[in-house]
Amino acid sequence: MLDPQNVTIDAESGAIAPETEHYEKRLSDLRQIFADRIALDRMVGEEGDRLVYQVRAFRKNESDLWFGTTTIEPGRVGSEYFMTRGHFHKRHDMGEVYHTQAGKGLLLLQARDGRVEILEMHPGSCSFIPPDWAHRSINVGDDRLVFVWVCNVEAGNDYGELEKGMQRRVIAGVSGPEMIESGVRG
Ligand SMILES: [Fe+2]
Repeated sequence: MLDPQNVTIDAESGAIAPETEHYEKRLSDLRQIFADRIALDRMVGEEGDRLVYQVRAFRKNESDLWFGTTTIEPGRVGSEYFMTRGHFHKRHDMGEVYHTQAGKGLLLLQARDGRVEILEMHPGSCSFIPPDWAHRSINVGDDRLVFVWVCNVEAGNDYGELEKGMQRRVIAGVSGPEMIESGVRG
């Protein structure tokens, strides 16, 4: 039997303690998800291989749940905001919860039947991601976007399904974020 335990989460940085897993994604890791690869290569050349997002987690052996934070830096590649890769879950019957701690974001959701939805992310928003909806979070603000996620340890990430990309992209328009067709059919 597992013992109860508190984990401390810093809302501004996304740091968690204790932390059992941590990974980072930099511009060069995300070349396939941004539309403007020329702009991406130019950024890497001029500014270095900048951090785009990092994921930190707390996971206990034998637990059914795990949770952690995702922290997306502010920035854009061309007109497209910094964002996560996006994924379906391997388990088609398992969803997730995103509780935003800091910053301003959009949660782009795409169902397996092709429907697209977008939810606003802001401190206090707690987003229900139903099973079988792919999800990508996008930092549309000037500060870090930090959110806590909670899901089943069996859910798994299936990136292959979105290899061609998602159906919509979120870009910086003249008066704020705009959602455009990406040309990819779901
Ligand atoms: Fe997920």
